[in-house]
Amino acid sequence: MTRSIGDRLELVAELLHTYGPFRCMADVGSDHALLALRALDRGDAAFAVASDLRPGPLARGRANAASHGCGEDRIRFRLSDGFDGLGEFAFDCACVCGMGGELIAELLKRYGPRPTCRFLLQPMTAQDDLRRFLWENGYRIDREAFTCERNRPYAVLAVRCTGEAPQPYRYADLFLGKERPRTAAFAAYAEKVRTQAEKRLSGRLARGLDPTDEQSLLAEIARMR
Ligand SMILES: C[S@@+](CC[C@H](N)C(=O)[O-])C[C@H]1O[C@@H](n2cnc3c(N)ncnc32)[C@H](O)[C@@H]1O
Repeated sequence: MTRSIGDRLELVAELLHTYGPFRCMADVGSDHALLALRALDRGDAAFAVASDLRPGPLARGRANAASHGCGEDRIRFRLSDGFDGLGEFAFDCACVCGMGGELIAELLKRYGPRPTCRFLLQPMTAQDDLRRFLWENGYRIDREAFTCERNRPYAVLAVRCTGEAPQPYRYADLFLGKERPRTAAFAAYAEKVRTQAEKRLSGRLARGLDPTDEQSLLAEIARMR
């Protein structure tokens, strides 16, 4: 049964399809586990582990798997804080979606460098913190893709840990990424970044703080139009 997973997760599923197929995908913070089930359905993963910090969401995922006809031979469920409880699974892809960027960075830091794993990350907030962590800690952002769901823009980052030297970046890169496709979804994303930068700029000016970073970010957004 194909079930709608919304445009946000559909974009993650699309990237899974692009980079897959995977032997085992981990859906970390899976809640309903619809992403893992979609990956199994499409053959983008042969096996999946869905994990969540809380029993309620995990039970929701289990129920969805059952109504999907997906048994333990295809998907397992684990109560786990980030990657902590997933040591028994040799996954080659991990999706961490629908959490704040700071939390995603924290979970990756605790997990440590895993060069053989492809990560698909979809931060709801603090994308700048996540990009900073990735560029400064040996991760490469291979691709950033954007979409809108119910008029809200979302970014999905396809990432690998290459162990390379810290990447140079400018302040604007933290908020806009380096890819910046000429799409309506990215334009909506940049518009959200602009609104937030305007607010930070007003706050900094009111407190007599250096406004240069926010001004340069706003100037860069204006140039993209
Ligand atoms: C907003 S839901 C996102 C669900 C799904 N990944 C999606 O994108 O639609 C966030 C889920 O992450 C779980 N979560 C929060 N912190 C977590 C952590 N440290 N480890 C694992 N799961 C966590 C929550 O319990 C919740 O079910």
